[in-house]
Amino acid sequence: MAELKEASKLPIIDTDAEQAVLDNLTGTSKELGLPVSFARQLGELLIEESVREQEGTRPKQSKDLLMKEIFELTQKLLAKRERVTRFEVGEPNFPASPQVIRGLTETFRKNKVVGYGPASGIPELRKALAEEMSAEHKVKIDPDQILIMPGGRFAIFATITSYVLPLERVLIPQPAWPAYEECVDFAKGRAVPINTKFEDDWELDLGKLESEMKKGARMMVLNSPNNPTGKIVGRKRFEEILQLAEKYGTMVLSDEVYERYARAKPPSVLESGAENWVYINSFSKQFSLTGWRIAYLVTTKERANRIRRVVQTAVTCVPEFTQRAVLVALKKGRREADRNIKAILGKVEVTCRELSKIDVSFHKPEGSFYVFPKANKPGFDSVKFARQLLEQHHVSISPGLAFGDYPAFFRLAVSLPRAQIPSAIKSIGEAIDSWQQ
Ligand SMILES: Cc1ncc(COP(=O)(O)O)c(C=O)c1O
Repeated sequence: MAELKEASKLPIIDTDAEQAVLDNLTGTSKELGLPVSFARQLGELLIEESVREQEGTRPKQSKDLLMKEIFELTQKLLAKRERVTRFEVGEPNFPASPQVIRGLTETFRKNKVVGYGPASGIPELRKALAEEMSAEHKVKIDPDQILIMPGGRFAIFATITSYVLPLERVLIPQPAWPAYEECVDFAKGRAVPINTKFEDDWELDLGKLESEMKKGARMMVLNSPNNPTGKIVGRKRFEEILQLAEKYGTMVLSDEVYERYARAKPPSVLESGAENWVYINSFSKQFSLTGWRIAYLVTTKERANRIRRVVQTAVTCVPEFTQRAVLVALKKGRREADRNIKAILGKVEVTCRELSKIDVSFHKPEGSFYVFPKANKPGFDSVKFARQLLEQHHVSISPGLAFGDYPAFFRLAVSLPRAQIPSAIKSIGEAIDSWQQ
Protein backbone atom coordinates (compact mmCIF):
# COMPACT_ATOMS: atom_id res chain seq x y z
CA MET A 1 0.00 0.00 0.00
CA ALA A 2 2.72 2.44 1.07
CA GLU A 3 4.78 1.56 -2.04
CA LEU A 4 1.73 2.04 -4.25
CA LYS A 5 1.12 5.48 -2.75
CA GLU A 6 4.76 6.44 -3.15
CA ALA A 7 4.87 5.22 -6.76
CA SER A 8 1.77 7.25 -7.64
CA LYS A 9 3.20 10.29 -5.81
CA LEU A 10 0.22 10.39 -3.47
CA PRO A 11 0.74 12.25 -0.20
CA ILE A 12 1.18 10.14 2.93
CA ILE A 13 -1.62 12.00 4.66
CA ASP A 14 -5.01 12.42 3.03
CA THR A 15 -7.35 13.90 5.63
CA ASP A 16 -10.50 13.08 3.63
CA ALA A 17 -9.46 9.42 3.36
CA GLU A 18 -8.66 9.32 7.07
CA GLN A 19 -12.05 10.80 7.87
CA ALA A 20 -13.75 8.23 5.63
CA VAL A 21 -11.93 5.37 7.41
CA LEU A 22 -12.94 6.72 10.83
CA ASP A 23 -16.56 7.31 9.74
CA ASN A 24 -16.71 3.80 8.37
CA LEU A 25 -15.33 2.30 11.55
CA THR A 26 -17.59 4.25 13.87
CA GLY A 27 -20.62 3.62 11.61
CA THR A 28 -20.03 -0.12 11.54
CA SER A 29 -19.43 -0.34 15.27
CA LYS A 30 -22.69 1.55 15.87
CA GLU A 31 -24.54 -0.96 13.67
CA LEU A 32 -22.97 -3.85 15.56
CA GLY A 33 -23.68 -2.27 18.94
CA LEU A 34 -19.97 -1.95 19.79
CA PRO A 35 -18.53 1.02 21.73
CA VAL A 36 -18.07 3.82 19.16
CA SER A 37 -15.35 5.73 21.01
CA PHE A 38 -13.25 2.59 21.30
CA ALA A 39 -13.61 1.94 17.55
CA ARG A 40 -12.53 5.52 16.86
CA GLN A 41 -9.51 5.26 19.13
CA LEU A 42 -8.52 2.05 17.44
CA GLY A 43 -8.86 3.68 14.02
CA GLU A 44 -6.75 6.66 15.11
CA LEU A 45 -4.08 4.34 16.41
CA LEU A 46 -3.96 2.40 13.14
CA ILE A 47 -3.78 5.59 11.08
CA GLU A 48 -1.01 7.04 13.25
CA GLU A 49 0.96 3.83 13.07
CA SER A 50 0.59 3.66 9.30
CA VAL A 51 1.72 7.29 8.91
CA ARG A 52 4.72 6.70 11.18
CA GLU A 53 5.69 3.66 9.14
CA GLN A 54 5.47 5.55 5.83
CA GLU A 55 7.25 8.64 7.11
CA GLY A 56 10.15 6.38 8.06
CA THR A 57 10.88 5.81 4.37
CA ARG A 58 9.52 9.11 3.07
CA PRO A 59 10.07 11.89 5.63
CA LYS A 60 7.90 14.96 5.15
CA GLN A 61 9.86 17.94 3.92
CA SER A 62 9.60 20.78 6.38
CA LYS A 63 8.60 24.09 4.80
CA ASP A 64 10.55 25.88 7.49
CA LEU A 65 13.68 24.21 6.11
CA LEU A 66 13.22 25.91 2.74
CA MET A 67 13.60 29.24 4.48
CA LYS A 68 16.38 28.02 6.75
CA GLU A 69 18.43 26.85 3.78
CA ILE A 70 18.61 30.35 2.31
CA PHE A 71 19.22 31.82 5.75
CA GLU A 72 22.14 29.46 6.33
CA LEU A 73 23.65 30.03 2.87
CA THR A 74 23.42 33.76 3.60
CA GLN A 75 25.19 33.29 6.93
CA LYS A 76 27.98 31.41 5.17
CA LEU A 77 28.50 34.25 2.70
CA LEU A 78 28.47 36.81 5.50
CA ALA A 79 31.02 34.76 7.45
CA LYS A 80 33.31 35.04 4.39
CA ARG A 81 32.79 38.82 4.59
CA GLU A 82 30.79 38.86 1.37
CA ARG A 83 28.09 41.52 1.03
CA VAL A 84 24.53 40.22 0.83
CA THR A 85 21.35 42.21 0.28
CA ARG A 86 18.96 40.55 2.67
CA PHE A 87 15.31 40.24 1.84
CA GLU A 88 14.97 36.84 3.50
CA VAL A 89 14.85 37.57 7.17
CA GLY A 90 11.53 38.55 8.73
CA GLU A 91 12.68 40.93 11.38
CA PRO A 92 12.58 44.70 11.61
CA ASN A 93 16.05 46.11 11.87
CA PHE A 94 15.49 49.31 13.81
CA PRO A 95 17.44 49.49 17.07
CA ALA A 96 15.70 48.78 20.37
CA SER A 97 14.55 52.05 21.87
CA PRO A 98 16.96 53.63 24.40
CA GLN A 99 14.08 53.71 26.91
CA VAL A 100 13.74 49.94 26.68
CA ILE A 101 17.44 49.43 27.24
CA ARG A 102 17.32 51.92 30.13
CA GLY A 103 14.37 49.97 31.53
CA LEU A 104 16.46 46.82 31.35
CA THR A 105 19.52 48.28 33.12
CA GLU A 106 17.32 50.00 35.71
CA THR A 107 15.69 46.66 36.48
CA PHE A 108 19.08 45.04 36.98
CA ARG A 109 20.31 47.91 39.11
CA LYS A 110 17.37 47.49 41.44
CA ASN A 111 18.27 43.80 41.54
CA LYS A 112 14.72 42.60 41.93
CA VAL A 113 14.61 40.18 39.09
CA VAL A 114 16.71 37.11 39.73
CA GLY A 115 14.01 34.67 40.78
CA TYR A 116 11.28 32.63 39.18
CA GLY A 117 8.12 34.53 38.35
CA PRO A 118 4.49 33.64 37.71
CA ALA A 119 3.95 31.39 34.67
CA SER A 120 1.30 33.73 33.30
CA GLY A 121 3.62 36.75 33.42
CA ILE A 122 4.13 39.58 35.90
CA PRO A 123 0.85 41.27 36.93
CA GLU A 124 2.13 44.77 36.05
CA LEU A 125 2.77 43.87 32.42
CA ARG A 126 -0.53 42.02 32.03
CA LYS A 127 -2.35 44.99 33.54
CA ALA A 128 -0.61 47.45 31.22
CA LEU A 129 -1.42 45.30 28.19
CA ALA A 130 -5.03 44.90 29.30
CA GLU A 131 -5.38 48.67 29.64
CA GLU A 132 -3.77 49.37 26.30
CA MET A 133 -5.81 46.78 24.40
CA SER A 134 -9.05 47.75 26.16
CA ALA A 135 -8.51 51.39 25.18
CA GLU A 136 -7.43 50.67 21.60
CA HIS A 137 -10.17 48.16 20.84
CA LYS A 138 -12.88 49.71 23.02
CA VAL A 139 -13.57 46.47 24.86
CA LYS A 140 -13.00 45.28 28.40
CA ILE A 141 -10.02 42.96 28.62
CA ASP A 142 -9.13 41.53 31.99
CA PRO A 143 -5.45 40.94 32.90
CA ASP A 144 -6.43 37.35 33.75
CA GLN A 145 -7.20 36.80 30.09
CA ILE A 146 -3.59 37.56 29.18
CA LEU A 147 -0.53 35.33 29.20
CA ILE A 148 3.03 36.54 28.64
CA MET A 149 4.75 34.10 26.33
CA PRO A 150 8.36 33.36 25.34
CA GLY A 151 7.73 34.48 21.75
CA GLY A 152 4.78 34.47 19.38
CA ARG A 153 5.91 31.16 17.93
CA PHE A 154 5.74 29.59 21.37
CA ALA A 155 2.29 31.12 21.92
CA ILE A 156 1.14 29.39 18.73
CA PHE A 157 2.81 26.14 19.79
CA ALA A 158 1.26 26.29 23.27
CA THR A 159 -2.22 26.99 21.89
CA ILE A 160 -2.07 24.22 19.31
CA THR A 161 -0.59 21.62 21.66
CA SER A 162 -3.17 22.56 24.34
CA TYR A 163 -6.15 22.02 22.07
CA VAL A 164 -5.34 19.87 19.05
CA LEU A 165 -5.49 16.12 19.59
CA PRO A 166 -3.97 13.57 17.19
CA LEU A 167 -5.75 13.55 13.80
CA GLU A 168 -7.78 16.66 14.61
CA ARG A 169 -7.88 19.06 11.71
CA VAL A 170 -6.52 22.59 11.73
CA LEU A 171 -7.48 24.77 8.77
CA ILE A 172 -4.65 26.97 7.53
CA PRO A 173 -5.40 29.48 4.78
CA GLN A 174 -2.40 29.65 2.45
CA PRO A 175 0.00 31.25 1.77
CA ALA A 176 0.97 30.98 5.43
CA TRP A 177 3.94 31.30 7.73
CA PRO A 178 5.22 27.69 7.96
CA ALA A 179 5.31 27.54 11.78
CA TYR A 180 1.57 26.84 12.05
CA GLU A 181 1.89 23.62 10.10
CA GLU A 182 5.01 22.63 12.02
CA CYS A 183 3.13 23.03 15.32
CA VAL A 184 0.14 21.03 14.05
CA ASP A 185 2.49 18.26 12.87
CA PHE A 186 4.15 18.28 16.27
CA ALA A 187 0.76 17.78 17.95
CA LYS A 188 0.08 14.96 15.43
CA GLY A 189 -2.92 16.93 14.21
CA ARG A 190 -3.76 17.40 10.55
CA ALA A 191 -2.89 20.68 8.90
CA VAL A 192 -5.48 21.31 6.18
CA PRO A 193 -4.35 24.00 3.73
CA ILE A 194 -7.00 26.21 2.18
CA ASN A 195 -5.40 27.89 -0.78
CA THR A 196 -6.13 31.49 -1.61
CA LYS A 197 -5.21 32.87 -5.02
CA PHE A 198 -3.31 35.86 -6.27
CA GLU A 199 -6.07 36.31 -8.91
CA ASP A 200 -8.66 36.63 -6.09
CA ASP A 201 -6.54 39.22 -4.31
CA TRP A 202 -5.68 36.55 -1.70
CA GLU A 203 -9.31 36.59 -0.54
CA LEU A 204 -10.38 33.53 1.48
CA ASP A 205 -13.27 31.67 -0.21
CA LEU A 206 -15.99 31.28 2.42
CA GLY A 207 -17.58 28.35 0.57
CA LYS A 208 -14.31 26.40 0.73
CA LEU A 209 -13.85 27.34 4.37
CA GLU A 210 -17.36 26.24 5.29
CA SER A 211 -17.06 22.92 3.51
CA GLU A 212 -13.85 22.18 5.46
CA MET A 213 -15.46 23.28 8.73
CA LYS A 214 -18.44 21.03 8.04
CA LYS A 215 -16.11 18.04 7.96
CA GLY A 216 -15.04 18.99 11.48
CA ALA A 217 -12.11 21.23 12.32
CA ARG A 218 -10.70 21.81 15.78
CA MET A 219 -9.10 25.09 14.88
CA MET A 220 -8.45 27.54 12.09
CA VAL A 221 -5.59 29.99 11.72
CA LEU A 222 -6.31 33.57 10.81
CA ASN A 223 -3.24 35.70 10.12
CA SER A 224 -4.12 39.24 9.20
CA PRO A 225 -2.08 41.24 8.25
CA ASN A 226 -0.63 38.21 6.56
CA ASN A 227 2.89 36.91 6.30
CA PRO A 228 3.83 36.61 3.38
CA THR A 229 1.19 38.47 1.30
CA GLY A 230 0.55 41.55 3.45
CA LYS A 231 -3.18 40.94 2.92
CA ILE A 232 -5.57 42.31 5.54
CA VAL A 233 -8.89 40.50 5.75
CA GLY A 234 -11.64 43.11 5.29
CA ARG A 235 -13.92 43.80 8.25
CA LYS A 236 -17.01 42.16 6.71
CA ARG A 237 -15.13 39.05 5.62
CA PHE A 238 -13.42 38.90 9.01
CA GLU A 239 -16.80 38.85 10.76
CA GLU A 240 -18.18 36.26 8.33
CA ILE A 241 -15.21 33.99 9.07
CA LEU A 242 -15.77 34.32 12.81
CA GLN A 243 -19.48 33.61 12.41
CA LEU A 244 -18.72 30.43 10.47
CA ALA A 245 -16.22 29.41 13.14
CA GLU A 246 -18.85 29.94 15.86
CA LYS A 247 -21.42 27.98 13.87
CA TYR A 248 -19.16 24.95 13.46
CA GLY A 249 -17.39 25.15 16.83
CA THR A 250 -13.99 25.82 15.28
CA MET A 251 -11.54 27.71 17.48
CA VAL A 252 -9.85 30.67 15.77
CA LEU A 253 -6.15 31.21 16.33
CA SER A 254 -5.84 34.85 15.36
CA ASP A 255 -2.24 35.82 14.77
CA GLU A 256 -2.14 39.61 14.71
CA VAL A 257 1.59 40.18 15.18
CA TYR A 258 1.75 42.60 12.21
CA GLU A 259 -1.17 44.69 13.45
CA ARG A 260 1.03 47.80 13.88
CA TYR A 261 2.31 47.44 10.32
CA ALA A 262 -1.12 48.08 8.82
CA ARG A 263 -1.85 51.11 6.70
CA ALA A 264 -5.37 51.30 8.18
CA LYS A 265 -6.54 49.80 11.48
CA PRO A 266 -7.19 46.11 10.78
CA PRO A 267 -10.10 44.16 12.26
CA SER A 268 -9.26 42.13 15.35
CA VAL A 269 -10.85 39.23 17.19
CA LEU A 270 -10.50 41.35 20.32
CA GLU A 271 -13.37 43.56 19.23
CA SER A 272 -15.40 40.91 17.42
CA GLY A 273 -17.88 39.94 20.11
CA ALA A 274 -17.10 36.31 19.21
CA GLU A 275 -15.88 33.98 21.95
CA ASN A 276 -14.06 31.09 20.42
CA TRP A 277 -10.63 32.59 19.74
CA VAL A 278 -7.05 32.90 20.92
CA TYR A 279 -5.32 36.16 20.02
CA ILE A 280 -1.54 36.30 19.55
CA ASN A 281 0.67 39.37 19.46
CA SER A 282 4.38 39.86 20.02
CA PHE A 283 6.95 42.45 21.04
CA SER A 284 9.25 41.05 18.33
CA LYS A 285 7.87 43.06 15.44
CA GLN A 286 6.27 45.91 17.37
CA PHE A 287 9.47 46.94 19.14
CA SER A 288 12.12 45.18 17.06
CA LEU A 289 12.95 42.78 19.89
CA THR A 290 12.92 39.48 17.99
CA GLY A 291 15.80 38.00 19.98
CA TRP A 292 14.23 38.75 23.35
CA ARG A 293 11.53 36.14 22.85
CA ILE A 294 8.61 37.89 24.42
CA ALA A 295 5.01 37.94 23.25
CA TYR A 296 1.46 37.79 24.61
CA LEU A 297 -1.74 35.92 24.16
CA VAL A 298 -5.34 36.86 24.97
CA THR A 299 -8.29 34.50 25.30
CA THR A 300 -10.92 33.54 27.89
CA LYS A 301 -9.66 33.04 31.45
CA GLU A 302 -10.42 29.31 31.24
CA ARG A 303 -8.44 28.86 28.06
CA ALA A 304 -5.60 31.02 29.40
CA ASN A 305 -5.39 28.70 32.41
CA ARG A 306 -5.13 25.68 30.18
CA ILE A 307 -2.49 27.19 27.86
CA ARG A 308 -0.51 28.50 30.84
CA ARG A 309 0.26 24.92 31.80
CA VAL A 310 2.45 24.59 28.70
CA VAL A 311 4.59 27.55 29.82
CA GLN A 312 4.73 26.24 33.35
CA THR A 313 5.72 22.77 32.21
CA ALA A 314 8.19 23.76 29.53
CA VAL A 315 9.92 26.95 30.67
CA THR A 316 8.54 27.86 34.15
CA CYS A 317 8.15 31.53 33.24
CA VAL A 318 9.35 34.27 30.88
CA PRO A 319 12.39 36.03 32.45
CA GLU A 320 11.22 38.92 34.56
CA PHE A 321 13.83 41.41 33.37
CA THR A 322 12.59 41.28 29.78
CA GLN A 323 9.03 41.67 31.01
CA ARG A 324 10.00 44.76 33.02
CA ALA A 325 11.86 46.22 30.06
CA VAL A 326 8.96 45.76 27.65
CA LEU A 327 6.70 47.36 30.24
CA VAL A 328 8.87 50.45 29.83
CA ALA A 329 8.56 50.03 26.05
CA LEU A 330 4.78 49.98 26.33
CA LYS A 331 4.64 53.05 28.53
CA LYS A 332 7.39 55.17 27.00
CA GLY A 333 8.53 53.65 23.73
CA ARG A 334 5.38 53.31 21.62
CA ARG A 335 5.73 56.54 19.75
CA GLU A 336 9.32 55.88 18.76
CA ALA A 337 8.59 52.30 17.71
CA ASP A 338 5.61 53.41 15.63
CA ARG A 339 7.82 56.01 13.93
CA ASN A 340 10.30 53.26 13.07
CA ILE A 341 7.50 51.10 11.73
CA LYS A 342 6.38 53.98 9.53
CA ALA A 343 9.90 54.19 8.13
CA ILE A 344 9.76 50.48 7.29
CA LEU A 345 6.42 50.97 5.52
CA GLY A 346 8.14 53.69 3.49
CA LYS A 347 10.71 51.10 2.39
CA VAL A 348 7.90 48.75 1.41
CA GLU A 349 6.61 51.57 -0.85
CA VAL A 350 10.04 51.90 -2.45
CA THR A 351 10.18 48.13 -2.95
CA CYS A 352 6.77 48.12 -4.66
CA ARG A 353 7.79 51.02 -6.88
CA GLU A 354 10.95 49.18 -7.97
CA LEU A 355 9.10 45.88 -8.41
CA SER A 356 6.71 47.54 -10.84
CA LYS A 357 9.71 48.04 -13.16
CA ILE A 358 10.54 44.32 -13.44
CA ASP A 359 8.74 41.27 -14.83
CA VAL A 360 6.68 40.29 -11.77
CA SER A 361 3.05 40.59 -10.63
CA PHE A 362 2.16 41.50 -7.07
CA HIS A 363 -0.47 43.08 -4.85
CA LYS A 364 0.72 45.98 -2.80
CA PRO A 365 0.68 44.80 0.83
CA GLU A 366 -1.94 46.41 3.08
CA GLY A 367 0.04 45.49 6.18
CA SER A 368 3.24 43.74 7.36
CA PHE A 369 6.65 44.40 5.83
CA TYR A 370 6.46 41.66 3.23
CA VAL A 371 5.82 41.65 -0.50
CA PHE A 372 4.97 38.40 -2.26
CA PRO A 373 5.60 38.82 -5.99
CA LYS A 374 5.14 36.25 -8.71
CA ALA A 375 7.66 35.90 -11.52
CA ASN A 376 5.90 36.15 -14.87
CA LYS A 377 7.66 33.09 -16.29
CA PRO A 378 5.94 29.78 -17.02
CA GLY A 379 7.30 26.94 -14.89
CA PHE A 380 9.17 29.28 -12.56
CA ASP A 381 10.76 27.49 -9.60
CA SER A 382 11.53 29.95 -6.83
CA VAL A 383 13.45 27.40 -4.72
CA LYS A 384 16.03 27.01 -7.46
CA PHE A 385 15.81 30.70 -8.25
CA ALA A 386 16.47 31.73 -4.62
CA ARG A 387 19.65 29.63 -4.55
CA GLN A 388 20.86 31.01 -7.88
CA LEU A 389 20.04 34.59 -6.95
CA LEU A 390 22.03 34.27 -3.75
CA GLU A 391 25.01 32.61 -5.42
CA GLN A 392 25.16 34.88 -8.46
CA HIS A 393 23.81 38.22 -7.22
CA HIS A 394 24.19 37.96 -3.44
CA VAL A 395 20.54 38.81 -2.89
CA SER A 396 18.61 36.59 -0.47
CA ILE A 397 14.86 35.95 -0.71
CA SER A 398 12.46 33.28 0.60
CA PRO A 399 10.95 30.85 -1.93
CA GLY A 400 7.15 30.71 -2.28
CA LEU A 401 6.97 26.97 -1.57
CA ALA A 402 7.87 27.73 2.05
CA PHE A 403 4.40 29.28 2.37
CA GLY A 404 2.33 26.68 0.50
CA ASP A 405 1.83 25.61 -3.09
CA TYR A 406 3.24 28.81 -4.62
CA PRO A 407 6.35 27.83 -6.61
CA ALA A 408 6.29 30.90 -8.87
CA PHE A 409 6.21 33.34 -5.95
CA PHE A 410 8.88 34.57 -3.57
CA ARG A 411 8.79 36.65 -0.41
CA LEU A 412 10.69 39.84 0.18
CA ALA A 413 11.00 40.94 3.82
CA VAL A 414 11.67 44.64 3.65
CA SER A 415 13.64 45.96 6.56
CA LEU A 416 17.00 46.43 4.91
CA PRO A 417 18.54 49.88 4.35
CA ARG A 418 16.47 51.84 1.84
CA ALA A 419 19.50 52.62 -0.37
CA GLN A 420 20.03 48.92 -1.09
CA ILE A 421 16.52 48.35 -2.46
CA PRO A 422 16.65 49.67 -6.08
CA SER A 423 19.80 47.83 -7.15
CA ALA A 424 18.72 44.59 -5.43
CA ILE A 425 15.33 44.62 -7.17
CA LYS A 426 17.10 45.37 -10.44
CA SER A 427 19.27 42.28 -9.89
CA ILE A 428 16.14 40.21 -9.17
CA GLY A 429 14.63 41.51 -12.44
CA GLU A 430 17.75 40.60 -14.42
CA ALA A 431 17.90 37.16 -12.84
CA ILE A 432 14.23 36.56 -13.72
CA ASP A 433 14.83 37.70 -17.31
CA SER A 434 17.70 35.27 -17.71
CA TRP A 435 16.10 32.46 -15.71
CA GLN A 436 15.69 29.18 -17.53
CA GLN A 437 13.89 26.08 -16.38
C1 LIG B 1 2.93 35.57 11.13
C2 LIG B 1 3.86 35.46 12.27
N1 LIG B 1 3.39 35.17 13.48
C3 LIG B 1 4.17 35.06 14.55
C4 LIG B 1 5.53 35.26 14.43
C5 LIG B 1 6.31 35.06 15.69
O1 LIG B 1 7.21 35.98 16.05
P1 LIG B 1 7.99 35.80 17.44
O2 LIG B 1 8.08 34.34 17.74
O3 LIG B 1 9.31 36.41 17.21
O4 LIG B 1 7.16 36.51 18.46
C6 LIG B 1 6.10 35.55 13.19
C7 LIG B 1 7.55 35.68 13.01
O5 LIG B 1 8.09 35.78 11.95
C8 LIG B 1 5.24 35.65 12.08
O6 LIG B 1 5.70 35.95 10.85
